[in-house]
Amino acid sequence: MQIISVISAVLIFGSLVECRVPSSSKLNNFDYTAINCRKHSAILTDFGAVGDGKTLNTKAFNSAITKLSQYANDGGALLIVPPGKWLTGSFNLTSHFTLFLQKDAVILGSQNEADWPELPVLPSYGKGRDATDGRLSSLIFGTNLTDIIITGNNGTIDGQGSIWWEKFKKGQLKITRPYLIEIMYSDQIQISNLTLINSPSWFVHPVYSSNIVVNGLTILAPLNVPNTDGINPDSCTNVRIEDNYIESGDDCIAIKSGWDQYGIKFGKPSEHIIIRRVTCISPKSAMVAIGSEMSGGVQDVRIEDLTAINTESAVRIKTAIGRGGFVKDIFVKGLNLNTMKYVFWMTGSYGQHPDDKFDPKALPKINGINYKDVTAKNVTIAGKLEGISNDPFTGICISNATIEMFVKKDSDIEMDAKKVKLPWNCTDVAGVTSNVVPQPCALLPDKKVDCPFPTDKLAIENVQFKTCSFKSVI
Ligand SMILES: *[C@@H]1O[C@H](CO)[C@@H](O)[C@H](O)[C@H]1NC(C)=O
Ligand SMILES: *[C@@H]1O[C@H](CO)[C@@H](O)[C@H](O)[C@H]1NC(C)=O
Ligand SMILES: *[C@@H]1O[C@H](CO)[C@@H](O)[C@H](O)[C@H]1NC(C)=O
Ligand SMILES: *[C@@H]1O[C@H](CO)[C@@H](O)[C@H](O)[C@H]1NC(C)=O
Ligand SMILES: *[C@@H]1O[C@H](CO)[C@@H](O)[C@H](O)[C@H]1NC(C)=O
Ligand SMILES: *[C@@H]1O[C@H](CO)[C@@H](O)[C@H](O)[C@H]1NC(C)=O
Ligand SMILES: *[C@@H]1O[C@H](CO)[C@@H](O)[C@H](O)[C@H]1NC(C)=O
Repeated sequence: MQIISVISAVLIFGSLVECRVPSSSKLNNFDYTAINCRKHSAILTDFGAVGDGKTLNTKAFNSAITKLSQYANDGGALLIVPPGKWLTGSFNLTSHFTLFLQKDAVILGSQNEADWPELPVLPSYGKGRDATDGRLSSLIFGTNLTDIIITGNNGTIDGQGSIWWEKFKKGQLKITRPYLIEIMYSDQIQISNLTLINSPSWFVHPVYSSNIVVNGLTILAPLNVPNTDGINPDSCTNVRIEDNYIESGDDCIAIKSGWDQYGIKFGKPSEHIIIRRVTCISPKSAMVAIGSEMSGGVQDVRIEDLTAINTESAVRIKTAIGRGGFVKDIFVKGLNLNTMKYVFWMTGSYGQHPDDKFDPKALPKINGINYKDVTAKNVTIAGKLEGISNDPFTGICISNATIEMFVKKDSDIEMDAKKVKLPWNCTDVAGVTSNVVPQPCALLPDKKVDCPFPTDKLAIENVQFKTCSFKSVI
């Protein structure tokens, strides 16, 4: 009956442009912003969903999205998730589709593993990240799609990840944990204006995809749980990540492109990425990590106006022998950092291989890493830059950086006199600095430079949001 009502609404009002829902649904009209508006719409409750936090709604999500997929070539469709607690297993998105979570709508991930179907491991990884064999589909999954939007009026997606974190800590995972949102092989993606909490593992994972905007997210995981990275573009091109707030047990943002021999063979880089106006809390990891899986290469990344409060490091490069690939043309400008272990950190010995078949001759090429306008307070180590012997990290440039070191009380200094750490420790790196305090290591001499930052715009910066109207039919 629900299906018929949606279709008849379309037959009657098909020539009009506004979104419409069946008259049985009492929803107020509203406006929202998106990269694309939709001609058709439906509300989750039209498909039998129950928002009591207990009823499993996987079937409702699947039948709603299957029905709405028929409008992909007729203006697309909007699925509204109204206030309530909507328990569900993993479900798949469709093209020219918007999932809209109203204020006080909460999607809850099922804690029954049977509600998470298995998927093949990612080809650029060759193995699962937690357990070698398989991996579970993310809560919200999409593959081979065009034009997908997940947004709302700050509704919540709660992965209820505690059961997975416990299994991880006890070494009981037999299969790789699911992510909260994963979109594969897709073009034109918007994920915005939502609160995402308690993912079993990574939160937002666009992979092998292009033209992606991720903005207005509040991402919250407890600070002591494993691998809850915030936003991980992986072998993606044209990505804009802006105005997000992230608290994570792992990296707030990590740019990746595949793992060792599998990533080298797949050969798809992450490139043309801009990250700006993000606030990060991550005491055990980085504000932005590049790697450690970077075997398809990472290039043309622009990072601007980021704030970190209590993170282990700022914009960190992680790689290893066997990774191959490259990290080049990275530009960072305007970091405001408070309470950090390392301001500048590059690691060429990260370890962690998918198996022992990696090629020990596959050396990563790290070149052209630029930082400028950095203010940091309460820092333990200013820079630890560790390249690879016979494969130095080159073209490092740091200008206008003021780092205030953590000051110990007099009594502590006497006790720790022999343990005082060097502010900088550089091995197998080459580059220049200018106007950096405290004075950098000898491998980065002062050359009175102003490190570069591109003045052109990436194509993804020109993508504009439209104002869309949802109108209820009474
Ligand atoms: C998200 O929320 C912000 C602030 O409320 C608003 O300006 C913006 O239009 C919304 N939509 C998107 C897509 O960011
Ligand atoms: C979701 O997509 C995956 C990957 O294409 C597929 O294996 C699975 O059957 C789909 N699930 C549903 C319910 O269609
Ligand atoms: C998705 O796209 C990839 C890359 O083009 C292709 O290899 C794969 O077969 C496609 N999968 C489906 C289910 O169409
Ligand atoms: C969205 O909700 C989160 C969690 O309640 C809150 O911290 C954040 O400020 C909200 N964002 C907006 C734009 O209202
Ligand atoms: C140096 O960086 C600070 C921010 O850390 C900025 O306010 C200042 O304008 C920069 N100075 C120059 C000369 O660019
Ligand atoms: C400075 O950093 C230390 C950890 O290195 C931390 O314990 C302390 O609270 C921080 N102080 C301030 C003022 O943030
Ligand atoms: C400097 O870094 C190298 C390479 O990581 C390490 O072996 C060495 O012990 C460090 N030196 C100090 C004084 O910390």
